[in-house]
Amino acid sequence: MALRLGDTAPDFTADTTQGPIHFHQWLGDSWGVLFSHPKDFTPVCTTELGYVAKLKPEFDQRNVKVIGLSVDDVDSHLRWEGDIGETQGTEVNFPMIGDADRTVSNLYDMIHPNANDTLTVRSVFVIGPDKKVKLIITYPASTGRNFDEILRVIDSLQLTASYKVATPVNWRDGDDVIIGAAVSDDEATTLFPQGWTTVKPYLRTLPQPNR
Ligand code: BEZ
Repeated sequence: MALRLGDTAPDFTADTTQGPIHFHQWLGDSWGVLFSHPKDFTPVCTTELGYVAKLKPEFDQRNVKVIGLSVDDVDSHLRWEGDIGETQGTEVNFPMIGDADRTVSNLYDMIHPNANDTLTVRSVFVIGPDKKVKLIITYPASTGRNFDEILRVIDSLQLTASYKVATPVNWRDGDDVIIGAAVSDDEATTLFPQGWTTVKPYLRTLPQPNR
């Protein structure tokens, strides 16, 4: 059955471009982003991997480990990384899983046979320090992902893990937030003594509490 939010991210061992890993052990106490790309030596994937490498300091700052995957093997990934360095102006600075036998792709339901029966789609899984799946996004092979959006969601996930708030449409770190629907006004008075704005009884906004 397909993975759903709140499920435990399946554990696995795999060869990567940075050596063998045991996934949960490799994650440790960090957040994780596991993402698949359909195939090595392909143009959209080349741009994505270069961009993720440039974002590495942003992921590090958020205590997030990033790991890529495709159904090609590690030797192929390593050869391709030379091209990525040459064309994208950055070395690939995170591990890439070689999944030629599709073990991990199948565990995470990354092959959608009605789209392509051998290659992975562009899956993104964000995994919390509790090893639970916090976000799943799936893009078709023809559409490169927006990894700034992945960072934006991670900011929301990390904030809402610590405070009883939710983030509104197009929210960005630093914008006002919404008091969680399950929080009564009485509880909100304790949680947010600095106060809030009641737009409607169910829509209460306040400045981001950790700012
Ligand atoms: C690409 O990365 O450009 C790509 C890979 C597989 C199918 C289509 C596009």
